[in-house]
Amino acid sequence: MSRLKIEGGHKLTGNIKISGAKNSAVALIPAAILSKNNSTILNVPKISDIKYLIEIMELLNCKISVKDDTMFIDTSKIKYHSIPEELSQMMRASYYYMGAMLAKFKKAEISFPGGCKIGNRPIDLHLKGFKKLGVQIKQEKNKYTLTAKELIGTKIYLDFASVGATINLMLAAVGAKGITTIENAAKEPEIVNIASFLINMGVQIKGAGTSTITVVGSKNLDKGIVEVFPDRIEAATYIIAGALTGKDLVIEGIIKEHIDAVLNKLTEANVSYKTEKDKITISKAKNIKPVNIKTLVYPGFPTDVQQCFTTLLTQAKGTSKIIETIYDSRFKNTEYLNLMGAKTKYNGNILEIEGITKLTGTEVYANDLRGGASLVLAGLIAKGETIIDNTEHILRGYEDIVLKLQKVGAKIEEI
Ligand code: EPU
Repeated sequence: MSRLKIEGGHKLTGNIKISGAKNSAVALIPAAILSKNNSTILNVPKISDIKYLIEIMELLNCKISVKDDTMFIDTSKIKYHSIPEELSQMMRASYYYMGAMLAKFKKAEISFPGGCKIGNRPIDLHLKGFKKLGVQIKQEKNKYTLTAKELIGTKIYLDFASVGATINLMLAAVGAKGITTIENAAKEPEIVNIASFLINMGVQIKGAGTSTITVVGSKNLDKGIVEVFPDRIEAATYIIAGALTGKDLVIEGIIKEHIDAVLNKLTEANVSYKTEKDKITISKAKNIKPVNIKTLVYPGFPTDVQQCFTTLLTQAKGTSKIIETIYDSRFKNTEYLNLMGAKTKYNGNILEIEGITKLTGTEVYANDLRGGASLVLAGLIAKGETIIDNTEHILRGYEDIVLKLQKVGAKIEEI
């Protein structure tokens, strides 16, 4: 089990460069198998989820090489292979091989995906959509066998605007005959990023970023090139770090529109910052005000930032409330924040945070990726030393988090 040690109370100053978005990159790599040629993905973050996706690509006989943050994928000798449970369970995004392999081979054998334990995370919408495209689904325990004689374009209405289902169905629809329309599609930037890659390969896709997406089934896709969008969740995490303990901390390489919901809440909480093209400069905020937040699908307030924002709200004078509407168990981190001195309590999907509380370093546990990040933020402002256990979760999603924070003055190390 890897651990992080943080000595709190140091000001963060200098620049933090935002890496490519985990949640885009993890879908772009499986999407590359749709091309019969070489693909190039720029700005790929070095995080452990990517390592496992590469292992799956190699199992499918694809050749991968990485130079700096550019990944070259040669799919010219691709061969079908089932995905072993050990790999599919390493991350949530392994499920993108369902859609991608259905489009490529009309078959996929894969186990239920892994990922953070933040509630019940079924994949029924993915499977319902595949069925509408003509896929037969056999489930034995954890393992799914998906087969189709052919995939036929159709209209799919998603009961919920799921990011994963939208991307998975877009991928499968590429291998379908005719046109597929996805209604009530997710609108997150990741969807636009994946669509731009597919369009670059030669697929006709309209409406990515809106709630109706149409995909025209295509064959013989050529090489594709795409740049991974900057990670909006990583950006928000470091912006919050700046609001907690920054001194002209510059977060660079962001797309501001992607984090507007978070910036608006910061303004409402009386946190000021300066924006300039792709940069935000932020210093420790004074007189933070309590706010109410409801997590929503994009462009609403992202669930993935809620836990880090909680740490900020421990420093707001008064009571703040967070209503989590996307997941049913995403407040576990608050139990550890409370151990550090925070005053929070939750009931179901509603969390209340009472501030201002002084935080003190102690030993805590990263239950999940963003919850772990919320503890890192707490450690940065806590009195004394914080030890975070089980930090593999954090490293799954934040490229070089230790180095990036050390570079701007944090006393943080892996132990
Ligand atoms: N849902 C269903 N059935 C489905 C699919 C989803 O009920 O078939 C429910 C989920 O259980 C959840 C909600 O819908 O309650 C949202 O799920 P969604 O499918 O939108 O999320 P996801 O694809 O599983 C991705 C990110 C998450 C991020 C969400 C929402 C990846 C690999 N993961 O998950 O990222 O929270 O979208 O934006 O892209 C993270 O980065 O920390 C993280 C958890």
